[in-house]
Amino acid sequence: MQTLEVDLGDRSYPIHIGPGLLGNEDLLTPHIHGNQVMIVSNETVAPLYLEQVKAACEGFKCDVVILPDGESFKTLESVNLIFDALLKARHNRTTTLIALGGGVVGDITGFAAASYQRGVNFIQIPTTLLSQVDSSVGGKTGVNHALGKNMIGAFHQPQCVIADTETLNTLPIRELRAGFAEVIKYGLICDPDFFDWLEQNYKLVLARDTEALIYTLERSCKNKAQVVAQDERESGIRAILNLGHTFGHAIETDQGYGNWLHGEAVAAGMVMATDLSARLGWISAADAQRSRALVDAVELPALPPKEMTPERFMELMAVDKKVLDGALRLVLLKGIGNAVISSDFDTQALTETFAAGSQLCA
Ligand SMILES: NC(=O)c1ccc[n+]([C@@H]2O[C@H](COP(=O)([O-])OP(=O)(O)OC[C@H]3O[C@@H](n4cnc5c(N)ncnc54)[C@H](O)[C@@H]3O)[C@@H](O)[C@H]2O)c1
Ligand SMILES: [Zn+2]
Repeated sequence: MQTLEVDLGDRSYPIHIGPGLLGNEDLLTPHIHGNQVMIVSNETVAPLYLEQVKAACEGFKCDVVILPDGESFKTLESVNLIFDALLKARHNRTTTLIALGGGVVGDITGFAAASYQRGVNFIQIPTTLLSQVDSSVGGKTGVNHALGKNMIGAFHQPQCVIADTETLNTLPIRELRAGFAEVIKYGLICDPDFFDWLEQNYKLVLARDTEALIYTLERSCKNKAQVVAQDERESGIRAILNLGHTFGHAIETDQGYGNWLHGEAVAAGMVMATDLSARLGWISAADAQRSRALVDAVELPALPPKEMTPERFMELMAVDKKVLDGALRLVLLKGIGNAVISSDFDTQALTETFAAGSQLCA
């Protein structure tokens, strides 16, 4: 087992990574401070893993909420189902919420924990690659609104993260690939050596080789933890974690939540961001090609949906949170491993990126 620390002063917490951690009560119970626990999972994950987590909570008053599965249920209604269960079972301010599932369950549960009785403890037990390398770490929680993704939320750090690599054995391959998009992201924004490693080893990761998975999780979480430690509330540098996301969120919203997986939209979005960076002369054509090639190699989409026009992209990107004072800010690349946040780019180049469609120069 590997353990990393997210260094946030009195909000610091450990991330445990390895196989067979799910039922390990020694990892879990030190982070449960009262005697009440509410496990939140969904109808897909609960039949697979709930019993193990419940067993690890023996000795505590343990209740369970099972949410419907899917991004379309990442809503305030789902948060309210958790509040209903907490209030009916008389959970008090010392309760601990445990999120058992992917990023959707983690984001909903974290937001419920941030707001129930003005904030209670929570623990992340992520079970998808995406949630293990990204969403369970860093304290961003929230739900979608009909007018925009992740528009309702809060910063609320977990007490600990327990990432059991064995849970990935039951994850559909399409979901594994989608999670890989966020992994590629770390290489592109801040870790060129990891990008090299991924080019060499992506097949092992997709084959769910334990060692390759542990390394992937460790290196990804280390990168994320370092960025978050510098800028917990995203007043600056943390925004580099959104490489490809402004484009990606536009795709997700256009296509309806859940039709394109988040990681798929991010993959196409990262290729668009790289394409724009190449048009601006900020990244070499060869490095842009490498980024595109890795996305292709893991069979993620490198192109946005054909029907999305430049006008549609602009309309959707204008509501994105990254728009400050009317200027669209994007995460772009000045080489592999060097992300910059900029609103200082030629909008003509952006239009060309939108319009390029199947002829992206990347
Ligand atoms: N908070 C953050 O910082 C942050 C960062 C990145 C993404 N996100 C959010 O994360 C969400 C995407 O997360 P996701 O990709 O994990 O999606 P998800 O939670 O929808 O999980 C994907 C699918 O896999 C199923 N599943 C989960 N674990 C499984 C397992 N071990 N075996 C079999 N099936 C399993 C789920 O039930 C679901 O059907 C998005 O809503 C995105 O906005 C948040
Ligand atoms: Zn993401």
